[in-house]
Order: sequence, then C-alpha cells, then structure tokens
Amino acid sequence: MIRTIYWDNNAVVMIDQKALPLQETYLTCKHYEEVIKAINDLTVRGAPAIGVAAALGIALGALCIESGDPEGFRTDFYRICERFAATRPTARNLFWAVEKMKKRFAESASLSPARRKEALVAEAIRICEEDSAANRAMGRHGRSLIKNGDTILTHCNAGALATAGYGTALGVIRAAREEGKELHVFVDETRPVLQGARLTAWELTKENIPATLITDSMAGSLMQQGRINLIIVGADRIALNGDTANKIGTYTLAVLAKEHGIPFYIAAPLSTIDLSVQEGRAIPIEEREGEEVSCYHGVRTAPAGIKVYNPAFDVTPHRYITAIITEKGIATAPYGESLQRLVAAQAFG
Ligand code: MRU
Repeated sequence: MIRTIYWDNNAVVMIDQKALPLQETYLTCKHYEEVIKAINDLTVRGAPAIGVAAALGIALGALCIESGDPEGFRTDFYRICERFAATRPTARNLFWAVEKMKKRFAESASLSPARRKEALVAEAIRICEEDSAANRAMGRHGRSLIKNGDTILTHCNAGALATAGYGTALGVIRAAREEGKELHVFVDETRPVLQGARLTAWELTKENIPATLITDSMAGSLMQQGRINLIIVGADRIALNGDTANKIGTYTLAVLAKEHGIPFYIAAPLSTIDLSVQEGRAIPIEEREGEEVSCYHGVRTAPAGIKVYNPAFDVTPHRYITAIITEKGIATAPYGESLQRLVAAQAFG
C-alpha cells in the first residue's frame, strides 16, 4: 500500500513525489513552514492530497502557537490558515480543508489551549482518513462504468499519491481490477511536470496493472484508431454547473473524446466541488514558473530569454463530461441538480 501522507508523533510525514520514480523517500515535517514549502514545490500534490497536507500542516502550526490568551491564539491560528490558503489557488480541496479546520477551531473555543490543539490534530487526522475512505467508495460506485477488457486513458496522476490513499480516477481503475476485470491503462506523460510518467506509471507498475506510457500528443491518434474505450481523470475544482478544472491538457482530451464517441469521466470527492462557483470561467487557474517548461530537471531545453506560458490547469466545459463519479454516487447532467443532491446526501450522512 502506498502511504502518501500521514500524522506521526507530532510531525507530518509524506512521500517525496519529486524524487519518484527513482527514489522512494519520505519527508518528515516538524514545522508547518516545511509543509507549506512541500505544497508549493510539489513534494505533495494532487488536490485531495493538498487538502490533507493543509489540514495536517495547520494542526502542526497550532501545536507551535505559544500565545495562551484566546485572542492571541486566534490571531496566530488564522495567520497560519491564510499562509496555507495562499499556496495553490485552483485546488478546491485546499480551501475546503482550511474551512474545516477553522470550523473545528471555532467549535473548540471553550477548551483549554492544550485541549484545543488536540482537537485540531484529531480533526486533521479525520480529514486524512475520510479522504481515503471516500476514494474507496468512489471506486465502488465507478467500477461499474468499466467493462471487462476495456482500455482506459488517464491524464496526470489522480492516484494514491494525489490523495490520502487509493486515488480517485486510479481508485476507480483499482476497484475494477479488484473485481477481477481485465483492463489496460494508457498513461499520458503529462507535460510539463510529468505526473503521468513519473507517478501514475509508478503506481500502476508497482501493482502490476497493465499500462502503456504515451506522450500527451499521442492520445488523439489512439482515439482515432479506436484503441481507447473510456477516459477517466481527476479534478482540482468542479463548478456548480459541472465545468471541471484539471491538469492542463484535460480539455483537449475531452473534446477529442466527444469527436470519437468515447465516454469521458471525472472522478472526484465532494470536497472538490465548489458550489459557490457557478461556472468554470470563475475558477482561478494557477500559473507556475516558466522553468517548468523551458527546463527539465534543471537542464535548459529551450533558449534562454524565450517567453513561456505555463498554466497548470484548464477547464473542461460540462457538455464534454459524461458523468462525475463521487463517493456518494454518480452525477450526470444537469450537474447543477445532481451535484447539489449528492452534496446534500453527504450533509445528511
Ligand atoms: O499540479 P498537480 O500535480 O497538483 O495537479 C494534479 C491534478 O491535476 C490532478 O488530476 C487532480 O488534482 C486530481 S488528483 C485526485
């Protein structure tokens, strides 16, 4: 089992995703600033894992607060929350986790500082465990969409590494395998950071799930040849109308899928859905530094001085999405209604 991120003895431990697939090493963060750095530099990445890292990091930050008076404690706690919220703007799960921690903070107002810190640590650990459980539930709902013998295309890494465990899109694929279905996964390498080549290929190889790595630009040709039965990807933020932000290149796949009559599925926990955003145009898209495109592993691959545009995500309009798989069931169009129904089902247990 891949352990992506967890709480251990007043520290946050995470697998170093920058070192994969060459080295399987773990980073132990004893200060919340180290967790912030790990989110920013992609040591931990993938929207659900970023949310879990923020929750655990905020709990770690709370342990460092020295102020004993409630007002000082509150000021320091909110400052730490804002630092986490300023890391990766597209990942809805990040803001969801920060809000969950603030809510627990407000509810624990009557406790002593020591007890309050314990309550915050317990909340963060719960967020971590619930994410893993949500992925397994998503797998149980989504596996019926995969038929024996299917060939599946995925983009980026929406696996155990992008979550607290098991994965969203890869979780659905794992669940289909666990039912005994034969399948084959085509993995987009996912330029520019290569989450597909480095991380998804690593996860699938580790579990002997049949897979083939391709460059992003080969996907359309495979669809044209009739070699892809369905596409499953994760999500960073889903708007109320179903428009979905995910790793750059997802939109291209979705449009091609429609052209070739291939079902295009999103798998994401309800914590990725942002009911306050009506449509995809309002989703903030993170732009990352140009070196990710002009260099590889510190080696320049483009001429110095070239301008670079490097948005980390794109938005797929809901009309290209066949269904959205969540831990509470599968949503189909009209998404405004179906997503709200699933969110309400979760709120009422
Ligand atoms: O920049 P990243 O690696 O954090 O981007 C990750 C993705 O786009 C994933 O597809 C998404 O977060 C879903 S992960 C379950």
